[in-house]
Amino acid sequence: MKKYFLHRVFRKIAVISALISPVMAMAQGSSGDAKMDAFVKQLMAKMTLDEKIGQLNLVTSGRALTGSVVNKGVEEGIKKGEIGGIFGVYGTDYIGKAQELAVKNSRLHIPLIFGLDVIHGHRTIFPIPLGMSATWDMGLIERSAKIAASEATGEGINWVFSPMVDIARDPRWGRISEGSGEDPYLGSMIAKAMVRGYQGTNMKNSDAVMACVKHFALYGGAEAGREYNTVDMSAIKMYQDYLPPYKAAVDAGAGSFMSSFNTINGVPATANQWLLTDLLRKQWGFKGFVVSDYTAVNELSAHGLGDLQTVSALALKAGLDMDMVGEGFLKTLKKSLKEKKVTQQEIDQACRRVLEAKYKLGLFDNPYKSINSEVEAKTELTEANRLAAREVAEHSFVLLKNKAQILPLKKSGTIALIGPLADNQSEMLGTWVIAGDPKKSVSVIDGVKKVAGSGVNVLYARGSNITDDSLLNARAWFFGMKQERDNRPAQQMIDEAVETANKADVVVAVVGESANMSGESASRSDINIPETQKELLKALFKTGKPIVLVLFNGRPLTLPWEDQHANAILDVWAPGTEAGNAIADVLFGNYNPSGKITVTFPKNVGQVPIYYNHKNTGRPFDDKGPAKFKSDYIDVSNAPLYPFGYGLSYTTFKYSDVKLSKSSLKGNQTLKATVTVTNSGNIDGEEIVQLYVSDPVASISRSVKELKHFKKISLKAGEQKEVSFDITANDLKFYNTRLKYDWEPGEFIIQIGTNSSDVQSASVHWSK
Ligand code: BGC
Repeated sequence: MKKYFLHRVFRKIAVISALISPVMAMAQGSSGDAKMDAFVKQLMAKMTLDEKIGQLNLVTSGRALTGSVVNKGVEEGIKKGEIGGIFGVYGTDYIGKAQELAVKNSRLHIPLIFGLDVIHGHRTIFPIPLGMSATWDMGLIERSAKIAASEATGEGINWVFSPMVDIARDPRWGRISEGSGEDPYLGSMIAKAMVRGYQGTNMKNSDAVMACVKHFALYGGAEAGREYNTVDMSAIKMYQDYLPPYKAAVDAGAGSFMSSFNTINGVPATANQWLLTDLLRKQWGFKGFVVSDYTAVNELSAHGLGDLQTVSALALKAGLDMDMVGEGFLKTLKKSLKEKKVTQQEIDQACRRVLEAKYKLGLFDNPYKSINSEVEAKTELTEANRLAAREVAEHSFVLLKNKAQILPLKKSGTIALIGPLADNQSEMLGTWVIAGDPKKSVSVIDGVKKVAGSGVNVLYARGSNITDDSLLNARAWFFGMKQERDNRPAQQMIDEAVETANKADVVVAVVGESANMSGESASRSDINIPETQKELLKALFKTGKPIVLVLFNGRPLTLPWEDQHANAILDVWAPGTEAGNAIADVLFGNYNPSGKITVTFPKNVGQVPIYYNHKNTGRPFDDKGPAKFKSDYIDVSNAPLYPFGYGLSYTTFKYSDVKLSKSSLKGNQTLKATVTVTNSGNIDGEEIVQLYVSDPVASISRSVKELKHFKKISLKAGEQKEVSFDITANDLKFYNTRLKYDWEPGEFIIQIGTNSSDVQSASVHWSK
């Protein structure tokens, strides 16, 4: 009854508003740029200065907060035309009312844009982005974004604050979990796939949203991995390693960007004209709008750039179009115009970009296009979406170790499921989950029982809390969610776990980080598994039972001890709604793991930052033995625990030598590089074949190697396949000292293999 009523109300409003609003009437049937220009121009001709500034104001009314400030008087603001968009809310009921206020009660009936942090799914939660990147599967990643968009639009959202494409090489930084790891090439592919998934072929479609690429730029380069910290890097590093994914997102047609909190060349991104105008618009041709991060305009004052009026003017002049939460634009731009600190043209330009975004989304045609309670009910957590989440999760898991092929487990005997994450629903979803319902997620114990079937006796003991460190425990929260605790003494829980382990054939220890130990404002200086859980693991290892670690983590953890002691380690990140089912599928071999890590795992935190595409230095290290006067440490080797691109399978793959179609090439010719990959085990499996290029002699010191191509193949047991890659001069290009993207003739080493360290090589000469 209620649904029907709302539906009718929305339809009626849509009809009435189309009649009463000159704005909407003008827009009927609009398409293409010329029409958009004409439409926006006509609309702006009617707008007062206050209404134009109002479009630049993005507010939150407080459902999901990521900062300490919440906007007041949202309802009045909408009516007065002082608000361009709202974020942090969802649901057709709320959004429908807000849109109705804007469309019916504001003077020009301009619709609002509704944003939300839909980061790895909306209702159906997919693995955290770092996990999703470990699939190296653009089809799956795009599909996850498409499903997220269809669910979010079902609840009135038309704009998502995703993808986060910040390259990160420092696992201390909690937000490494929200991105795609350390590599610019893979990161760029993923950025494009996400934008395609969200925006589809036309943002006017009812199940498409506008992407907001963040955080522009270099946020992942925070010094010491400390959240919101200063970023300072050379221009070459910036262009070569950190900027490509943002550029890729522009090329994929992303509709909006979010500026980052950090400084770049000493100027905070939010007021950085070089970044927001010269690079983004003039060099890259970006045509959308830029929103600040949460109160980032106001924070320019703390960065030392001046009072609110000054910094708001600076941000606008730099090329920022929309101000998130802080209301600096709203409160000061009029005054700044009077005092000639900003120009009318600068305000108009920002207003035009925001209106264009609304136009591109089709909101002037139908402000209620995604506000329909019937659609809302239908799109929520469907069986098909759950299946997709299960598939993506399975593909995201990385088998880090599997001694004596202990995995997959047999569907018989007794399994002891132990650990604070084994019987838990809320921690399955990971960080940045706003609309996902933890009660609808599948715990590991439920998944294992279901998939294992009646032949397996599953025992359970909690074993420990996630952490007993009171500081860590108190600080690891987000959106009000804290870790569940068991108040029994630690030793009592360990004793119970040991007793349980002793009754089993194999122990599956489900341990690691809680969802909110990574993500925003969750940097860690120690990236071990928390001490309490380590104590539990030590006691379990003493039982002599084979131990399989199922590891939850939002970042690379330091695991040398676990690597030495565990029989198997399956890294499952934070897998999302279908966690338990996906984990059980992999543990019991219904799916043979194929994920590969997209960020290097260090041996200890002192090695950080550590990444595969580093430079050689003048004293390259040699890991064969102690090497005085080389670029290394005297207490640990330079080698990581697990290199970029690493991940095992239940089967084994053999690589042949690399065959090149030519030994020397010229200019625009294409080189074909081929390997034969053989599934040398007796289980079918998938392999991600990776191609790296080294440029040993150049006018600048180059990275030791760079990922340039990859292919995911599937091979039946015993099957062999030729895998070929076409390499062009484009793959040899780099930014030189003049920041020109070009290649230099000479010798290049083509490397193909199963991860960044384990490769077969062949060299080629390429002349201009
Ligand atoms: C985060 C952004 C997020 C925004 C809105 C900020 O604190 O840095 O990633 O999109 O809040 O919630």
